Amino acid sequence: MIVSGSASQSLAAALAEQTGEALAAVEFDRFADGELMARVSGFEGERAVVVAATVTSDAHLELLQLQDAVREAGASEVVTVIPYMGYARQDRAFRDGEPVSARAVARAIGTGTDRVLTVDPHEPTVCDWFGVPAEAVAGGPRLAEPLPDSLSEPLFLSPDEGATDIAEAARDAYGRGEVDHFEKDRNYDTGAVEISPRDAAVAGRDVVVTDDIIATGSTMAESVAVLRERGADRVFVACVHPLLAGSARTRLARAGVETVYGTDTIERAVSTVSVAPVVAEAL
Ligand code: R5P
Repeated sequence: MIVSGSASQSLAAALAEQTGEALAAVEFDRFADGELMARVSGFEGERAVVVAATVTSDAHLELLQLQDAVREAGASEVVTVIPYMGYARQDRAFRDGEPVSARAVARAIGTGTDRVLTVDPHEPTVCDWFGVPAEAVAGGPRLAEPLPDSLSEPLFLSPDEGATDIAEAARDAYGRGEVDHFEKDRNYDTGAVEISPRDAAVAGRDVVVTDDIIATGSTMAESVAVLRERGADRVFVACVHPLLAGSARTRLARAGVETVYGTDTIERAVSTVSVAPVVAEAL
């Protein structure tokens, strides 16, 4: 049975359809003191697949409650699907005294499950911290789906070297095109991002900028500005995790980005592509 967290209801429904597994009824309440209660009713069957993007601290807590509830209801196996893993970018202590938050949340989640699947975590090595078998599922191939067939000399570009695998996966799924990456420097005090172009010839070409996540939108906005300066023709912006925090969507619009293609690892207005097929395959 598929058991959905409140932030992953569309993806859970798509997974239920894809796998043929039933969707459990789940209710979400909040007590007067602010504490949460995620309740599963009508759980039947042996395997519980808990699907919950940990996009907020409340969503983290809900996930732990759902894992516990399905065990209480008799699940013999619990598989936890974390479409978007919050805190995954804090995968080391960047300054003295900081926690490795990704490790802390992975350990907590790992105690309530037999297995974990997570889509494009910031670093796949995060999978080592769950303490149970855990696998990173690639969402990049799904980013090819909404692209027009007519791309001219397409270049799949990532804003930094770390996201090149997403660009490659999208290009492979699209079936043609080149892959390259920019160099990125971020000032961690101000959050400002500086993008340095490499030798990629972009003039007159259609460029698909792919990244694992759009958070503040600074990286994408700077990348698109550089591409425009260098004479790119059409520019498409695609990411696996459309977090779009704060004024990110406005920042992108001001940079001339009309459309953002995102997946349903985070359910936003731009989440037009579903990762359900790749998650279902990994299940
Ligand atoms: C960084 O390594 C990631 O791949 C993204 O490029 C980054 O997290 C995006 O953040 P923002 O939208 O805030 O620039």
